[in-house]
Amino acid sequence: MKIVTTIAEAQSRQRSKPRVLVPTMGALHKAHLELIRVARERAGPNGEVAVSIFVNPLQFVPGSDYEQYPRPEKADEEFCRNAGVDLLFRPAARELYFEDRSAYVEEASLSSVLEGKSRPGHFRGVCTVVAKLFNILAPEVATFGEKDFQQLAIVRRMVRDLNFKIDIIAVPTVREDDGLACSSRNRYLNLEERKQAAVLHKALLAAASANKRSASDVVDLARKVISEVQLADIDYVELVDAETLQPVEMVRPNSLLALAVLFGKTRLIDNIRLP
Ligand code: PAF
Repeated sequence: MKIVTTIAEAQSRQRSKPRVLVPTMGALHKAHLELIRVARERAGPNGEVAVSIFVNPLQFVPGSDYEQYPRPEKADEEFCRNAGVDLLFRPAARELYFEDRSAYVEEASLSSVLEGKSRPGHFRGVCTVVAKLFNILAPEVATFGEKDFQQLAIVRRMVRDLNFKIDIIAVPTVREDDGLACSSRNRYLNLEERKQAAVLHKALLAAASANKRSASDVVDLARKVISEVQLADIDYVELVDAETLQPVEMVRPNSLLALAVLFGKTRLIDNIRLP
């Protein structure tokens, strides 16, 4: 596995193989392994799998966990090696951002709801760094997880609107045995929070299978299940159209139930498609 830390080196490498990129912020876990597996499958024997690890300061809202975000460098490197990654791109923040930077990439519609409402500027940070990674590493394909459903929709919109010639592959959410969606932030949870956090998937499953028609009934049911655990503090539970991410009043094809819930200081998100 080749490790590259500078843009110059990443861009000067001669390349004859098609590349599939897995953009990450490190602290790799089994959901990343699945992203890498799908990337490998798509790359085939003649392709190359590239993983980027970069904790992107631009996507953290002020006062959140940028400084504390886990950065287990050695373990991540081993993880990539064992997963059969060909190229690891791991730049420092000063390598990716000029101090006097003044150009950003902003998606202006899908970013205004759900996570975008609670974390202003977050998706501008995501779009900016993803566009930079696409320019630097020039992949033909990139994989993104469906846990971050809104991020996936926004990246797809950016790719479409800015004419990146890159296929975006959506990878289904990977879960722990009790249903909790895998996330690097799960490691912030204490034992009791971790135990109670399993309620999120239970709530999504209960709401999705209850055969309710109105959005408020679906949302109320999910909220009720979540409220049964003491430590959950709901930010939002919303039923939206999976394309536009706009709220819907009645369940219809392509509806998505999305939620964000705090356990202590840890904010967890998850979602489910309604049948
Ligand atoms: O999903 C993530 O890990 C990040 O938001 C991403 C896509 C790597 C951009 O920093």
